[in-house]
Amino acid sequence: MQVPIHEKIFELALKRSFFFPSNEPYGNIAGFYEYGPVGVLIKKKIENLWRETFIKNEGFHEVETSIITPEPVLVASGHVGSFADPVIECGKCKTRIRADSFVAEKHYDLHGEKWDGKLDSLDKTIKEKELKCPKCGGEFGNAFMFNLMFQTGIGGERSPAYCRPETAQGIFTAFPRIFRNHGTRLPLAVGQVGKSFRNEISPRKGLIRMREFTQMELEYFFNPTHGEFDGFSAIKDSRMRMGVKGQTSEMSADEIVQKKLAANEIMAYFMAREWEFYRKVGIPPGKMVFRVLDSAEIPHYSRANIDMEVETSFGSIETIGNAYRTDFDLASHTKHSGQDLSVFVEEEKKKVMPHVFELSMGVDRLFYCLLEHCFRDKDEKDEKGEWKLGSGKEWEWFDVPPCIAPYHVAVFPLMKKDGMGEKALELTGILRSVGLDADYRESGSIGRRYARADEIGIPYCLTVDYQTLEDGTVTIRYRNDGKQERIKTSECESHLRKAVRESRVTL
Ligand code: GAP
Repeated sequence: MQVPIHEKIFELALKRSFFFPSNEPYGNIAGFYEYGPVGVLIKKKIENLWRETFIKNEGFHEVETSIITPEPVLVASGHVGSFADPVIECGKCKTRIRADSFVAEKHYDLHGEKWDGKLDSLDKTIKEKELKCPKCGGEFGNAFMFNLMFQTGIGGERSPAYCRPETAQGIFTAFPRIFRNHGTRLPLAVGQVGKSFRNEISPRKGLIRMREFTQMELEYFFNPTHGEFDGFSAIKDSRMRMGVKGQTSEMSADEIVQKKLAANEIMAYFMAREWEFYRKVGIPPGKMVFRVLDSAEIPHYSRANIDMEVETSFGSIETIGNAYRTDFDLASHTKHSGQDLSVFVEEEKKKVMPHVFELSMGVDRLFYCLLEHCFRDKDEKDEKGEWKLGSGKEWEWFDVPPCIAPYHVAVFPLMKKDGMGEKALELTGILRSVGLDADYRESGSIGRRYARADEIGIPYCLTVDYQTLEDGTVTIRYRNDGKQERIKTSECESHLRKAVRESRVTL
């Protein structure tokens, strides 16, 4: 029987230090994962590429706001009142399960039905279909709503607070100050990369549904009468796959606006940039789609949502939420805090409550999706005994794009003796000093070291050998096809920097 790809990925993730469950000696608690030494290098590169694409290249601002958020902020945002999922508890073993997913899996999905949002309907179906606890067969009590935020208290329980469920709220409350300090003009865009927390009821599927995860969010504040975007013409012909009412087709950014699928040019512009970003980090275009959500699926704060979904062995996974949040948050914080968060617009000589387009991307889901899509199995031989993929790899490896590979390059001395070790270390130091992530390994056969490098997705290996000592050249070996050539040691730095910048797998 073939092992599902997600099982392989989890096994390799544990073995190769991509990620593993938190607090392992104490037993696993679902929904919490640590990134190991290899995974953290890839994750940071994804975050930095996001910063480069969505903050630096656009001239936007980045902030780092508090994780612990006082209750009034989250009352205003609607999270205290409505950020909840329906839950059922087994009367016998007390296991808690997310009720809508459980009933969908056991009944709705099989009969093409959808939950109408009422707790009574869940209770009725559970009773009628005699659905029992999957752990002990016990009866469930009535369904109830469970708030997903982790609660705490500031200086004690009298000042309730929560771990933030999204990084966005910190940006909204910081907006007036950033607006004052940075030009007092709209549009203004502010991003943040940081942890968010959701006390998911039955987290499953590893990095896909976590209780503590990283978001990269951008809030674009604009005058509601100006939904156009200055740089739109540069991307108007960019094509993306769009999912509308169950039909998928390719469209240009321009068509997406003309057909009113996106709320405005601003939304379509960022979608085009997201599409490009996803391609760059290794998601094949045929495996991703922007799905236009119908009104019943849109979150409480949004008027229109388009999600990026990536196909995986778990099914389609939402990895980005694009939301037209209107003035929902700023207006609500104005009402609840008593401070007016509207701004004076010089051209119109009046105060305006800015509207917000939000791009919300989860790092962990993207990280998982790219591992699945960059995974390459061992090669097989055909009936003539030739390697099917040409490179003859007898090990599983990752075709991670060079720009986000954990190490850009690995440096090996053929042997440690006769000055080769020193030369290889010297080269490693030079490469590291110019900002390349270089791994150095000196033990094991050279073939074994190449295999270890492939297994974590290092695109290039440099080997220092006897010829290096004579003529100053090294062997460069390419991960994807296993081919090798000699290049001058003095040119390694410039060649590699260029290849990594262009994310090429050969020089
Ligand atoms: N500020 C809007 C917001 O948070 P969301 O759709 O709830 O919107 C945005 O989340 C993204 O955050 C998702 O597309 C996903 O990538 C990530 N995300 C949300 N919940 C998650 C969880 N429990 N585990 C891992 N990632 C999650």
